[in-house]
Amino acid sequence: MPHHATRRLLGRARELEVLEQLLRDVRDGRSRVLVLRGEAGVGKSALLAHLAERAAPSQTVQAAGVEAESDFAYSALQRLCAPLLSHLDRLPPVQQDALRVAFGLSAGNPPEMLLVGLAVLGLFAEAAAASPLVCLVDDAQCLDLMSQRILAFVGRRLDAESVALVFAERAASGEGPEAFAGLPDLTLPGLADADARALLDGALVAPVDARVRDRIVAETGGNPLALLELPRDLSPVELAFGFARPGAGPLASQVEEGFRRRVDALPADTRALLLVAAVEPVGDTAAVACAASARHRGRGRGGGRDGGPDHTGGPGAVPSSPGAVSYTHL
Ligand SMILES: Nc1ncnc2c1ncn2[C@@H]1O[C@H](COP(=O)(O)OP(=O)(O)OP(=O)(O)O)[C@@H](O)[C@H]1O
Ligand SMILES: [Mg+2]
Repeated sequence: MPHHATRRLLGRARELEVLEQLLRDVRDGRSRVLVLRGEAGVGKSALLAHLAERAAPSQTVQAAGVEAESDFAYSALQRLCAPLLSHLDRLPPVQQDALRVAFGLSAGNPPEMLLVGLAVLGLFAEAAAASPLVCLVDDAQCLDLMSQRILAFVGRRLDAESVALVFAERAASGEGPEAFAGLPDLTLPGLADADARALLDGALVAPVDARVRDRIVAETGGNPLALLELPRDLSPVELAFGFARPGAGPLASQVEEGFRRRVDALPADTRALLLVAAVEPVGDTAAVACAASARHRGRGRGGGRDGGPDHTGGPGAVPSSPGAVSYTHL
């Protein structure tokens, strides 16, 4: 999420109003917690990106659950709190110590979770003392367990600190991890029909029969990712006669299959670069470039049969900001 490419949002009037109200509340001195839930590609990260834009000039801190780091206790929490650590010395010493140990800033026995939770709550409150603080946590389903528990604890105790804590979590309705049970949530449905059509029309490169458009909208259920991705893999014949392939699996796996086909069609070096980018947990472009050039050196020359890697990133990869590369979907 932190590097999510922003695209003009279609529809979502109800959700945008919920987020606007959340910002109004926080600016009025209240705190708010919200868990945005929904299936893959339904638009959770897009809404978080929109909220980050709308939150300005309030301070915003962001982190995302990263599967490769889900065994590292406190890793996501550490990333979220890092920009706020200048407030650490305003906390009670026992909480400072707990947080320092949790974040690997000093050695010590594993800290009491209660102390870490209170420390994070205190840190947020201190950071919000001067102006509201908006904390955005994407891909909450991939958070390491300690970060998940501490953030849920903080979410349950926030009250009147001018703090917003908003999670996006990939899950079907009612399937959230227990850690977030009881927190206010908002489940995202697919886009409304007219918005789904507008998104699809923007994604189609050739005119398509109206019945085919209807069918795509119906079969995607208004899922924006599916609306954007499925037509890219349809042949003119499929566009002309509909796209239900015999044996085609559920929507998510059809989208995945589309990504796989596009990756398979790329040169080997580009595929290797995509793999390196996928396993680099925070999308550090310098680390990715370093690994790519080490691979080239290892092969004795640049390029190879397939030519040099295509740094445009390939399907699903976003060269999103000068310092980071991220995947829109994994
Ligand atoms: N309301 C919208 N209008 C236009 N485009 C949208 C809208 N919502 C989402 N999109 C686009 O659809 C794609 C998928 O959205 P997004 O990445 O936010 O999904 P997600 O719910 O975060 O999925 P995941 O669970 O995989 O993280 C993105 O390209 C995004 O820009
Ligand atoms: Mg997302």
